[in-house]
Amino acid sequence: MKQGIIVGASSGIGWELAVQLAAQGYQLGLMARRDGCLNKLAASLPGEHFVQTSDVTNAEQAQEELTSLIDQMDNVELVIVNSGVGSHERLLDWEVQRQMIDVNVRGFAAMSMTAMNYFLKRGAGHLVGVSSAAAHFSSGRTLTYNASKSFVSDYLNGMRSRAAHSKMPITVTTIEPGFVKTPMVEGQPLWMASVERAVTQMVRAINNKKNHVFVTRRWRYVALLLDIMPNALIRKFV
Ligand SMILES: NC(=O)c1ccc[n+]([C@@H]2O[C@H](COP(=O)([O-])OP(=O)(O)OC[C@H]3O[C@@H](n4cnc5c(N)ncnc54)[C@H](OP(=O)(O)O)[C@@H]3O)[C@@H](O)[C@H]2O)c1
Repeated sequence: MKQGIIVGASSGIGWELAVQLAAQGYQLGLMARRDGCLNKLAASLPGEHFVQTSDVTNAEQAQEELTSLIDQMDNVELVIVNSGVGSHERLLDWEVQRQMIDVNVRGFAAMSMTAMNYFLKRGAGHLVGVSSAAAHFSSGRTLTYNASKSFVSDYLNGMRSRAAHSKMPITVTTIEPGFVKTPMVEGQPLWMASVERAVTQMVRAINNKKNHVFVTRRWRYVALLLDIMPNALIRKFV
């Protein structure tokens, strides 16, 4: 049986990833802080699944919890680090910034590194990280979120080099979504994808062991444009 772990499975993209992967026959380990949501999710999926309550901002404890889940599950071949938080920064407020840095940077690295060390020991595996198209530009209104996702994308690039040097069959997939309709997104921004459609594209990229995917595909062209646009011009729009 294929086994996978989703960190940040209790809502939105993580929840739908669990639904679609379980439908493909995966046995899943579901991690997040809200155990009520995780238990509800596990009960709604076909098959038996594992639930592990975890707060990635307690990085060392979360690493132990991920390792213990991996040990209980026996042969995990896929770890998806999807946990993330985002806020508009109308004010420059340290509490708001610290929360995003703790979850999206410190928590992300702690979970990804633990997963990669496990795959290196196992000799194979697949690490997936959920970054964002926001990694491709800076904005005064979402400066910490964009910077944190830039860290996620760069960190995964480094992990991919690490995997290549190991000569082991270890894949690292970076997912960079645009707007997806989940509790994280306020209002109705342009080009909002349904979570089902977005996750179908993510799962296809995971199954095809892609290095990188934009979701939905049109965000690839937006990111390409953002990569070459001068900051002074980007500032006129965001
Ligand atoms: N929606 C979008 O438009 C969009 C676009 C680009 C990228 N993304 C990225 O996609 C990922 C999923 O976001 P979403 O849109 O699905 O939002 P969401 O519904 O708010 O889901 C966020 C997930 O992260 C978990 N999480 C947050 N803080 C955590 C913590 N301290 N410890 C452990 N888990 C934590 C949440 O679980 P608990 O609260 O139960 O802990 C939840 O399962 C994020 O990384 C986000 O940055 C989303």
